[in-house]
Amino acid sequence: MSTAAMQKTEADQDLEFPIPPGVFAERVVSVKHYTDRLFAFRITRPQSFRFRSGEFVMIGLPNAAKPVFRAYSIASPAWDEEIEFFSIKVPDGPLTQHLQKIQPGDTVLMRQKPTGTLVNDALTPGKRLYMISTGTGIAPFASLIRDPETYDKFDQLILTHTCRDVAELKYGEELIAATREDPLIGELTEGRLHHFTSTTREDSPQMGRVTTLIENGELFKALGTQPFDAAEDRVMICGSMAMLKDVKALVEKAGLKEGSNAEPADFVVERAFVG
Ligand code: A2P
Repeated sequence: MSTAAMQKTEADQDLEFPIPPGVFAERVVSVKHYTDRLFAFRITRPQSFRFRSGEFVMIGLPNAAKPVFRAYSIASPAWDEEIEFFSIKVPDGPLTQHLQKIQPGDTVLMRQKPTGTLVNDALTPGKRLYMISTGTGIAPFASLIRDPETYDKFDQLILTHTCRDVAELKYGEELIAATREDPLIGELTEGRLHHFTSTTREDSPQMGRVTTLIENGELFKALGTQPFDAAEDRVMICGSMAMLKDVKALVEKAGLKEGSNAEPADFVVERAFVG
């Protein structure tokens, strides 16, 4: 391929609008639609881009002089060559109404600075890490369960995912299966990575909101664990605002203290952003 032709394949070529400063322009590598509300996609990773598993970044599309950016948790682990995202599709969402139409080869904008509280650094060591998610809130945990550091820090990793219906659980099921078979991580997961799913609007073997299942003890019964204990358990929470508030209240009731990057403690929360 000639140099000129190679340059044409760069993501910052052929765009109608200039790329804003401090923003990477990356190519979409693959797109997978799960339901009419959910899809996942992968983009190329800039060589200089570093992040901690569990962090989020602002992404947008090159479709305006001042593009709309929204916060997205990075679903791929820090060692991955590509960047993965798991997104909702909002019919009138300023970003997702367009983002849901992306195809391989299209350009996605990504601000250069990742951030977030759902990181191993924000928790003190513990025996068990509960990662409690609803909907696209599973994304940061898709990153963390594929990071060897999480297995260094915790004996047991428990990922809970509650969705409206069975089809919405598919991303998580594929994720867990792929992680267990991964040549880098698979061995670490043996007997240590646990997946708990429930649905709220369609019949499935386990029904109910995660808050209900924590309160009535069914979550712990199904996992063979005991109710939250600040001495051993650490918790990360990601979902809608209402879900965060309710789960947070339950873990605080159990005596766990909220942590941050500056002051690590027993649990951390992060909203699953949409738009
Ligand atoms: P429900 O079907 O009872 O609303 P969504 O896709 O709307 O973000 O919802 C994802 C999942 O989160 C659904 O199963 C939903 O249950 C559940 N959910 C919604 N609000 C809360 C809450 N306050 N606490 C716990 N789970 C919630």
